[in-house]
Amino acid sequence: MYKKKQHELKWIEEGGKKLGEILRQLETMVRPGVSAWDIDQEAEKLIRAVGGVPAFKGYKAHRYDPPFPSTICASRNEEVVHGIATKDKILHDGDIFSIDIGMQYPAGCGEGKDGNGYFTDTALTVPVGTIPETTKQLLAVTKKALEIGIAAAVPGNTVAEIGRAIEDYVAPQGYGIVRDLVGHGVGHAVHEDPRVPNYYEKDLEQWEIVPGVVLALEPMITMKGEDVETAADGWSISTVDKSLSAHFEHTIIITEEGPVVVTRRVGEKV
Ligand code: MF3
Ligand code: CO
Ligand code: CO
Repeated sequence: MYKKKQHELKWIEEGGKKLGEILRQLETMVRPGVSAWDIDQEAEKLIRAVGGVPAFKGYKAHRYDPPFPSTICASRNEEVVHGIATKDKILHDGDIFSIDIGMQYPAGCGEGKDGNGYFTDTALTVPVGTIPETTKQLLAVTKKALEIGIAAAVPGNTVAEIGRAIEDYVAPQGYGIVRDLVGHGVGHAVHEDPRVPNYYEKDLEQWEIVPGVVLALEPMITMKGEDVETAADGWSISTVDKSLSAHFEHTIIITEEGPVVVTRRVGEKV
């Protein structure tokens, strides 16, 4: 259902806060020599410790997909999203690394899918060691695109306005906006209606933003080309032109007063 009930929103708020803190802790692990697998192990430990369940592990977008094998999506450099957290994915100085994490919470509460509660979803991209100024700019623009999208997610607007705001900010600067991947409703499942593209789409004017709606906003921005392709592992999605890609994501609840960012991290620069 599009609008969540009051007590569901409470769980989403509580789960989102915990997930934000988990992502903050994982961010501190990022440095040259660490593997995506190391970070993934810690991610699962932290989620279970707060009474949650990893939302991506075992996930299938389609019936015949291989189940997603890790707790985080670990995407490096030209990988946009859905990178698998393998042992041989070791971070090197000068890389950029995206961690995307989802949690179902609270496990065993008897509500939500399988009685394990409600879903939240959040991501960031961080430098590994020292990165060039141009790459820092890509990260800054992608983060700012997320904040601009959040600011447009107010009652009275439609979902189309979120995409328009992000596109109007990003496109004139010459970066690519990935079109094949979009934000989404979230809460009862990892992915729910509506789609929330990072560009304007007329059809989405039918989705009015009203209090009680929960959305995951997630601009995926590239240095250059907008086209992406899926790797032979069935999951990892990279830019076709191999240009660098950044990704920031928050879960937000729409209230009468505007959007509340439930996955906000302590100390996060806005
Ligand atoms: N976290 C992704 C999103 O933001 C979904 C990942 S599904 C997975 O929408 F199974 F690939 F992890
Ligand atoms: Co995500
Ligand atoms: Co998402």
